[in-house]
Amino acid sequence: MPSTTLVTGAARGLGASIARRLGTRGHHVIVNYRSSAADAAEVVRGIEAAGGSASSAGADVTDPSAVDGLVTGILAARGRIDTVVVNANTAPPPFAALADLSWTAFAAKVTGELAGAFHITKRVLAPMRAQGAGRIVYIGSTAADYVGGGRLAHGTAKSALATFARHVAAETARDGVSVLVVAPGAVRTPATAEILDGERGAVLARESVLGRVLEPEDVAEAVAMAADPALHAATGTTLRVDGGWSVLVGGPSS
Ligand SMILES: NC(=O)c1ccc[n+]([C@@H]2O[C@H](COP(=O)([O-])OP(=O)(O)OC[C@H]3O[C@@H](n4cnc5c(N)ncnc54)[C@H](OP(=O)(O)O)[C@@H]3O)[C@@H](O)[C@H]2O)c1
Repeated sequence: MPSTTLVTGAARGLGASIARRLGTRGHHVIVNYRSSAADAAEVVRGIEAAGGSASSAGADVTDPSAVDGLVTGILAARGRIDTVVVNANTAPPPFAALADLSWTAFAAKVTGELAGAFHITKRVLAPMRAQGAGRIVYIGSTAADYVGGGRLAHGTAKSALATFARHVAAETARDGVSVLVVAPGAVRTPATAEILDGERGAVLARESVLGRVLEPEDVAEAVAMAADPALHAATGTTLRVDGGWSVLVGGPSS
C-alpha cells in the first residue's frame, strides 16, 4: 500500500508543488485546503494525470474540531496516516519593525503559525504511535535565523515552530515517529510573487550564490526526500533549502 501522506494547505503555492512531487514518488497524497476546493481538485487531477494517486480534503487546520474530522476521515478511508507535511500558510507575515507592529498582528502571526502545527501534530500522533511509524515534516523558514527586514513576527513564529518540532521529535522518537523541519529561503509562490517580481526579487537573486530566487519545485524536491522514512534518524533537526544564502558571510544583508 502506498504511503498515505497529508499535505496541509496544498491547493496552491509550495503545498501544491510538494503534493505533486510526493505523488510522483508513489505516495497517496491528501491535498488539504481551507477554501480553495476547485484549486485542490485541480492538484488532485494533475497528480492522477501523472500516474499518481490523490484525493482532496477541506479543513481549516487551525481549528481542532476540523482537524479531528480531517484525520478521522483519512483513517476511515485509508486505515493509516504515514506522513504529514505541515505547510499551510495559516498566518501570512506582517512584515514590520517592532515600532510599527501591533500586538494583535504579532500575536496573530505567532498563534496562527503554531495552531497550524499543534492541532494536526497532536491528532496524528496517536495513530502514528499505534502503527509504530510516522514522519512529520514542518515547513519552517530561514526567517527564523535572520534579523531585520521586518522579519520580527515571522522569524519569531518560525523559530517557535522549529522548537516545537524538536520537542515533538524528542517525545516520539522511541515510538517510531520522526520529525524534520524544512526551512526554505524566499520562494516564488502566489503569496510572494508580487514582492519577488519587483526590486526585492532582484536583490534576493543577487545575494543568492545560485543567482536566482527559489522556485516551489526546489523546495518540493527537498520535502519529498525529507518525507522518506529511511531518514528517520534525521529527527528534530532542520534542513535549510536556501539556495546557498547561509554560505554568505553574515547572511543576506537585506
Ligand atoms: N513563499 C515563501 O517564500 C516561503 C518561504 C519560506 C517558508 N514558506 C512557508 O511555506 C508555507 C507555504 O507558503 P506559500 O508561500 O506556498 O503560501 P500560499 O501561496 O499563501 O499558499 C498557502 C496555502 O495555505 C492554505 N491555508 C492557509 N490557511 C489555512 C488553514 N487555516 N487551513 C488549511 N489551509 C490553509 C491556503 O489554502 P486556501 O487557498 O484553501 O485558503 C493556501 O492554499 C508556509 O508555511 C510559509 O510560511 C514560504
